[in-house]
Amino acid sequence: MDFKEWLYKVADLSLADYGRKELDTAEKEMPGLMALRQKYAWQKPLAWARITGSLHMTIQTAVLIETLVDLWADVRWASCNIFSTQDHAAAAIAVTWVPVFAWKWETLEEYWWCTLEALSFPGWLGPNLIVDDGWDATLFVHKWFGAENNASILDKTPENEEEGIILNLLKKVLKDTPNRWHTVMKDLKWISEETTTGVHRLYEMMKAWELLVPAINVNDSVTKSKFDNLYGCRESLADWIKRATDVMIAWKVVVVCGYGDVGKWCAMSMRWYGARVIITEVDPICALQAAMEWYKVTTMEEALKEWNIYVTTTWNLDIITVEDIANMKDEAIVCNIGHFDNEIQVDKLNKYPWVKKINIKPQVDKYIFPDGHCIYLLAEWRLVNLGCATGHPSFVMSNSFTNQTLAQIDLWQKDYEVWVYRLPKYLDEEVARLHLEQIGVKLTKLTQKQADYLWIDVNGPYKPEHYRY
Ligand code: NAD
Ligand code: ADE
Repeated sequence: MDFKEWLYKVADLSLADYGRKELDTAEKEMPGLMALRQKYAWQKPLAWARITGSLHMTIQTAVLIETLVDLWADVRWASCNIFSTQDHAAAAIAVTWVPVFAWKWETLEEYWWCTLEALSFPGWLGPNLIVDDGWDATLFVHKWFGAENNASILDKTPENEEEGIILNLLKKVLKDTPNRWHTVMKDLKWISEETTTGVHRLYEMMKAWELLVPAINVNDSVTKSKFDNLYGCRESLADWIKRATDVMIAWKVVVVCGYGDVGKWCAMSMRWYGARVIITEVDPICALQAAMEWYKVTTMEEALKEWNIYVTTTWNLDIITVEDIANMKDEAIVCNIGHFDNEIQVDKLNKYPWVKKINIKPQVDKYIFPDGHCIYLLAEWRLVNLGCATGHPSFVMSNSFTNQTLAQIDLWQKDYEVWVYRLPKYLDEEVARLHLEQIGVKLTKLTQKQADYLWIDVNGPYKPEHYRY
């Protein structure tokens, strides 16, 4: 391996100046992270913590990385998606001697190599803390540990191309450095997970007694899921449609599959642009909520030929089947904003008889069916707002990443038993508080009598409960 690849691997280091200018701009929109840098300027609460990040390598993430470094963490980073890296952000970080392994348009082999590099600290050490977004790093280290116990688990027939790549990489790692993960695992204290999909996988692992270290569910902090998933998607969804296709959203019929946190605000965003929005749901409560908001709620099969734009937001699989795609209206646009890449049956689409695929530009593919109708598939069915655009705006990511940083500080200082935890409510309140001043919000202060009435400390958190999960 080239020596510098131990230090970083990015697309183009000469983009660092451009990245730095955008980082400076983003810092102004990320008051939560900047406030933490100030608050902990003397304490350096992350001193000696080795942190691996597996999270989209964007400008906003660069501000998070620099915040962790400012608190004296030793950081290594990879992206959690092959398309989401902003190359100028990665370059700006690489020139500061923080090891980063990420570029836009990685192959799957390169992607997993980058994840492994981010987990590999000098001196054959591993991380103390992992910041994961979508469970890839968590999956990898658990599989690695399992394979060191029983190498035959790597001989299974892979369910898909990506699994085959992971199994092959692990076989190589086991051969080159046997028992390495058992040694470094002792130092791994915590995993923190950023997104809905990853959090659900963590709960499944916990229930199956497969989780090896305690984990924190950052997603369900109110100032994460009720901000990033809502206001972030509200702005970034339209952004990708514009950048990828330039189509007019007004007058179109947009189908939003799933009416959870992400779906609700994707739907609202499309409605504000003047689209007619239709929802598909499996959950009766979410379906009722959609109906209360005056959306038509129906099934995918019904009126397939009427719709123009399809967005999946479910973190479930096979939401749009290849048969659905074959029956879509001419010029339909299909994409996924959920974390995993199995919501749309693209593997099957690629093998569909007599379908012609034309690449229009990166992340925009046109599929022409034998009857002459075509559809556009964006970001190869991976999360579209980060593939075709640059993800959520800085201000909303400041909320998510202030939660991440507070989680890292909390986790580094405490020991807990293996479980999936949520951040305490008072930290959620702190995250919100750190963002109020910038937007000119003035809070009403409780009187002593009101605080007594609520049985809380007038100077303490408004809601002091501590959640286990
Ligand atoms: P959620 O659980 O709140 O919502 C998912 C909804 O999909 C639920 O209401 C569920 O009932 C519905 N659903 C499940 N199966 C369905 C089916 N077959 N048909 C129709 N609806 C179905 O989850 P969320 O917080 O909204 O997150 C959704 C996805 O978006 C996750 O993968 C999450 O990781 C991802 N996410 C992406 C971004 C981004 O920037 N792209 C940001 C936040 C979250
Ligand atoms: N997830 C959604 N938007 C993002 C962004 N801009 N940076 C990092 N992660 C994100």
